[in-house]
Amino acid sequence: PIEVKKICCIGAGYVGGPTCAVIALKCPHIQVTIVDLNQARIDAWNSDNLPIYEPGLDEVVKAARGKNLFFSTNVDKAIAEADLIFVSVNTPTKKSGIGAGFAADLNYLQLATRRIAEVSTSSKIVVEKSTVPCRTAESMRTILEANSKPGCTFDILSNPEFLAEGTAIADLFNPDRVLIGSLQTQSGKDACEALKNVYSNWISTDRILTVGLWSSELSKLAANAMLAQRISSINALSAICEATGASVDEVAHAVGRDSRVGPKFLKASVGFGGSCFQKDILNLVYLSESLHLPEVAKYWRAVVEMNEHQKDRFARKVVDTLFNTITGKKIALLGWAFKKDTGDTRESPSISIANHFLSEKARISIYDPQVTESQMWLDLTNYGDIPAEPIKPHVTICKSAEEACKNAEAIVICTEWDEFKTLDWEKIYANCPRPAFVFDGRLMLDRAALKKIGFTVITIGTGDRV
Ligand code: NAD
Ligand code: UDX
Repeated sequence: PIEVKKICCIGAGYVGGPTCAVIALKCPHIQVTIVDLNQARIDAWNSDNLPIYEPGLDEVVKAARGKNLFFSTNVDKAIAEADLIFVSVNTPTKKSGIGAGFAADLNYLQLATRRIAEVSTSSKIVVEKSTVPCRTAESMRTILEANSKPGCTFDILSNPEFLAEGTAIADLFNPDRVLIGSLQTQSGKDACEALKNVYSNWISTDRILTVGLWSSELSKLAANAMLAQRISSINALSAICEATGASVDEVAHAVGRDSRVGPKFLKASVGFGGSCFQKDILNLVYLSESLHLPEVAKYWRAVVEMNEHQKDRFARKVVDTLFNTITGKKIALLGWAFKKDTGDTRESPSISIANHFLSEKARISIYDPQVTESQMWLDLTNYGDIPAEPIKPHVTICKSAEEACKNAEAIVICTEWDEFKTLDWEKIYANCPRPAFVFDGRLMLDRAALKKIGFTVITIGTGDRV
């Protein structure tokens, strides 16, 4: 069997960084080099201030960095030395051209693939770690074979990543499964075995699933689509609950007790965010359309449409409740990250909700324990598309939840950070004009306790008719 001694990971992002840091920790006999074109990101990985916030990540990086884990911008050198290369670059939704708004932008992936072909002087196993449309491995193979040096062969594997942000390290230490797709040729199977041997250093082999390449690629899109679909389903039900007086948490609990449904991923919310769900479903929609399956495309598109509706419905509820106008009113927005325990804000529902409030000319004060002020401004201006000057007078970014809530006519919970549960709500109430409203977009607060203090509490999926 092929023995993997040196691994290169192209892309030091939310996936490449944690994934390959864990491989280095668990496989001290393998040298792991994570490379990126972004110098600032690599510098941060080499510093005490890692570029991403993820519980447990600091310890993993500290234990392996400088021993068998290296971060570098020398992409070519790391490629040339490696036996196995993970391609873990970003694959965002295309912004222009054919498939704009739906298809995955494979430009970064293709540039990385070309680089591998150009600088390799020995045979490699190339692993698709990025989430990609079904059959991308085929185009990678064509690029590699057309540009390779004599004597160099490439085996391509698909090994999608299932970690969730906020729990990445726990997910990587103890995954539900690792999925490896390969061609069913002898060399494809040998490459698959080599990668399986890397993971089996800490994961029991019954959790390592080996399948065909196309099944592996499609399984990643399918898993994200089905997870997101559960959230859109429970969020659709949350609207019915609000109108009828049923409680969405009670409904989710009752439904989830059916072992065929299961209890996880049924938490109603302001809507799902994150860099993956929407992108991957739109990718599946595009794939379905390209395959002339319009009904299939429509089915999956509805999951994203329901999510848009949920964000919009929640923001409208705030406006309606504040007597149909929020012009000039101060609204506290608690939480900017797309979920707790991450500083990531990609597709965060907070951004849409803030935009809605700003379009109504409210004044918003934002607090998040992990997101930097500069990141919030990038999000508020859509990375420079929207001029900052006109919105500046309407936005205050705060250092604490208490500060954000001071004198606010409404407090809106967008992210379920644990610290929001234990705020001094009595003190916050004392500093709010009357009536004082709390909008709980995450069903996380003690509704009865807040009501007792004097707040009017509006919770997603909870009817006011008892
Ligand atoms: P990211 O944007 O955080 O990181 C990607 C990195 O790749 C960037 O730092 C970028 O500079 C670098 N890069 C791009 N082109 C490069 C090149 N040619 N050479 C060297 N570096 C290059 O993205 P991410 O969140 O880590 O996601 C990476 C992939 O993993 C995506 O396909 C995504 O869909 C998938 N994925 C993400 C998650 C998640 O939770 N974020 C989970 C599972 C799968
Ligand atoms: C997701 C997948 O879970 C992971 O397997 C994949 O590799 C990448 O995409 P991530 O986006 O990091 O991970 O976080 P996840 O925990 O799935 O949450 C996504 C969004 O859904 C968040 O905004 C979260 O708040 C929301 N959510 C999640 C709900 O609204 N309700 C739920 O019950 C679960």
